[in-house]
Amino acid sequence: LLTPAAHAQRPKPNYDESQVPQFKLPDPLVTSQGKKVSSAKEWQKVRRPEILELFETEVYGKSPAPPKDMLFEVTSVKNDALGGKAIRKEVTVYFSGKKEEPRMDLLIYVPAKATKPVPVFMGLNFYGNHTITDEKDVKLNDHWMRANKDKGIVDHKATEASRGTSSSRWPIEKIIDRGYGLVAIYCGDIDPDYDDGFKNGIHALYNSKQKPAPDEWGTISAWAWGLSRALDYLETDKHIDASKVAVMGHSRLGKTSLWAGAQDPRFALVISNDSGCGGAALSRRRFGETVHVINNAFPHWFCDNFNKYIDKENDLPVDQHMLISLIAPRPVYVASAEDDRWADPKGEFLSVKYAEPVYKLLGTSGFGAKKMPGVNDPVQKQMGYHIRTGKHDVTDFDWEQYLNFADQHFQGS
Ligand code: GCU
Repeated sequence: LLTPAAHAQRPKPNYDESQVPQFKLPDPLVTSQGKKVSSAKEWQKVRRPEILELFETEVYGKSPAPPKDMLFEVTSVKNDALGGKAIRKEVTVYFSGKKEEPRMDLLIYVPAKATKPVPVFMGLNFYGNHTITDEKDVKLNDHWMRANKDKGIVDHKATEASRGTSSSRWPIEKIIDRGYGLVAIYCGDIDPDYDDGFKNGIHALYNSKQKPAPDEWGTISAWAWGLSRALDYLETDKHIDASKVAVMGHSRLGKTSLWAGAQDPRFALVISNDSGCGGAALSRRRFGETVHVINNAFPHWFCDNFNKYIDKENDLPVDQHMLISLIAPRPVYVASAEDDRWADPKGEFLSVKYAEPVYKLLGTSGFGAKKMPGVNDPVQKQMGYHIRTGKHDVTDFDWEQYLNFADQHFQGS
């Protein structure tokens, strides 16, 4: 991560609310020409494209159009997975249309008793699909991974010991029992999470090993793009209702789920779990992780233009409430954890709140919460939010809320 020199220079994070600077947020409902947006049509035609372009060029970087010939290969099907509860499938997506790199593996569970295509949650994971399940016969991921002894990673590769090590974050049986499917993808299949000058992963297919221009895709954009390609596959899968896909992600992958949902309106519901800086948290608050710190620690996540705003958050033409506004009118859920101050829970809440006027303009129930709700007291309208007790993680409490929220929007209950 940070070199010792960079670490020494790293500004101390602020955790004191009284030290949060005064700031004025850009208004999602005023165009770059200073015109007030007062109809859904003006939002869709003028302001939304403007904001989308600003996030593309100044924050995450533009992604290319989908490849022309992707190849989908079903590599395994198990009709009695999870003791008979689920059908389990593994599918490899070959981005170039040839059976070679780059490729990503999808691990899919759907309820065995479903009589029609089901709504699904789709999410990226940090260490391979084999880590999210206790079933020992799924493919062990063979791509590069970040070092992590606790996850059974040896020399940047997964070992048998890594199976099931993230299963607490993915309550598959509960998801299946509630009538949903789950689609899992290892983020590093799309783009390995390290700063390699963008030679590897999906970047290699497009950039002929050149570093992207300052407004072209970093790793978060690459991951988001990969989620859209997975959705391309889901549209062809008869077990899945591709009009009801909830994209969910934690932390860096929560930043990614928001950006994927913002760009691709086919995602019907978007969930950010503890996404923090560059995700749901407002950059201008400079609380916990800042634009400065994140760009130094993870130079490959954002596009190079984002460096312009290091210690100059007020110059940003956007802030993260506008990322949420791009998802409108689709349901969006942001979750925080009380002890995850690095991710700035209040800043995550405020992004939802300040995106609400767009949701209201588009005729939805919006958010409703004026003040930060109490701990473990979720708010769920068209926009949802909770702050739960505990640390930076994905817990059963989080999933319980996501399932309830999805019930409201997908099942009408
Ligand atoms: C680091 C990083 C965060 C990120 C987190 C994660 O803490 O600073 O921005 O969200 O890793 O992905 O777990």
